[in-house]
Amino acid sequence: MQKDLNTVPFVSVENMMRLVLDIGIETCIAQIAECIEDDFRRWPQFDKTPRVASHSREGVIELMPTSDGIDYGFKYVNGHPKNMKEGLQTVTAFGLLASVDTGYPVLLSEMTILTALRTAATSAVATKYLARKDARTLALIGNGAQSEFQALGLKRICGIDTVRLYDIDPAATRKCVENLAGSGLTVVSCRSPEEAIQGADVVTTCTADKQYATILTDNMVGAGLHINGIGGDCPGKTEIHRDILLRSDIFVEYPEQTRIEGDIQQLDDDYPVKELWQVITGAVEGRKDDRAITLFDGVGFAIEDFSALRWLRSALIGSTRFTQLDMIADPDDPRDLFGMVQREKERMA
Ligand SMILES: NC(=O)c1ccc[n+]([C@@H]2O[C@H](COP(=O)([O-])OP(=O)(O)OC[C@H]3O[C@@H](n4cnc5c(N)ncnc54)[C@H](O)[C@@H]3O)[C@@H](O)[C@H]2O)c1
Repeated sequence: MQKDLNTVPFVSVENMMRLVLDIGIETCIAQIAECIEDDFRRWPQFDKTPRVASHSREGVIELMPTSDGIDYGFKYVNGHPKNMKEGLQTVTAFGLLASVDTGYPVLLSEMTILTALRTAATSAVATKYLARKDARTLALIGNGAQSEFQALGLKRICGIDTVRLYDIDPAATRKCVENLAGSGLTVVSCRSPEEAIQGADVVTTCTADKQYATILTDNMVGAGLHINGIGGDCPGKTEIHRDILLRSDIFVEYPEQTRIEGDIQQLDDDYPVKELWQVITGAVEGRKDDRAITLFDGVGFAIEDFSALRWLRSALIGSTRFTQLDMIADPDDPRDLFGMVQREKERMA
């Protein structure tokens, strides 16, 4: 795919949409989920650090780096719940992969769509390992940009066949109902979170509010439920009532980051949690029994974005859904960067 080291393959939003439609949305999520599982299995190989967050009153801008020693990747991502009311996305992202050997970038991509795919893939991996095997009904609370991807990931990977939708904004639920028509899912729109959760085996909360919110209260959560809490992902931004956390077996990506950002920020710093990668390797028990309440306190970790970029690089092989960017200066003599600039003056004249 990369023709020479000085031009970098770039996947624009348009090319990402076309690539995803070429492959199929559900297949993309399933393939990314496989990459995430593979990378979680080799978790100790990766550089890990909580993401670098720059908070403001309105939102957050974050950098998410990691490396497996061969490739290096990072994502730039924002979270601005107030954007939606201004006609802007709550979450936008872009990112790149680079070669550890040369330090040169090897892939640059939009990651707003890729983030929705990888977040759906991550929830699906967590649900596959933690939900009851007979789980068929999903309550999806928060019907914004992430929601359809979440539903399709759980359908494809976990066998969910029914989705019960709730959002404080009925227009979001209507959009979600329309988008999921023809997906093969039975879609039910609900007037309250209590109604949405009735008969659900799995709940995914993906709301956006820059404050401590309580999307799920203690009385709503019964035995055997699996919860993916993905909207509580910043200091001061949570979705799940503390009493539910205390009744649940809690699973996280990277504890050092989740204790700052996840719903577990409401608990003591040493409250016991389990790491999803260790459930995948079999080192740690997942669901104890059919009555346990399991909570995946997902905040999004850099390795998932690395997995998504790795997937994208392989999906581009044999595809035309990218352009080459002239991104790396390439003087004939590597030490004569100045001369290269001067010679361009002559060409411009
Ligand atoms: N964990 C992760 O890896 C990850 C990845 C991407 C996004 N997120 C987070 O997921 C959340 C959803 O992202 P999005 O891109 O879909 O945002 P969005 O703004 O497109 O949608 C959020 C929806 O939540 C609804 N909502 C807000 N408060 C609610 C409430 N109390 N009850 C029910 N619905 C409510 C809004 O009306 C809106 O439709 C955000 O908080 C975002 O930061 C997490």
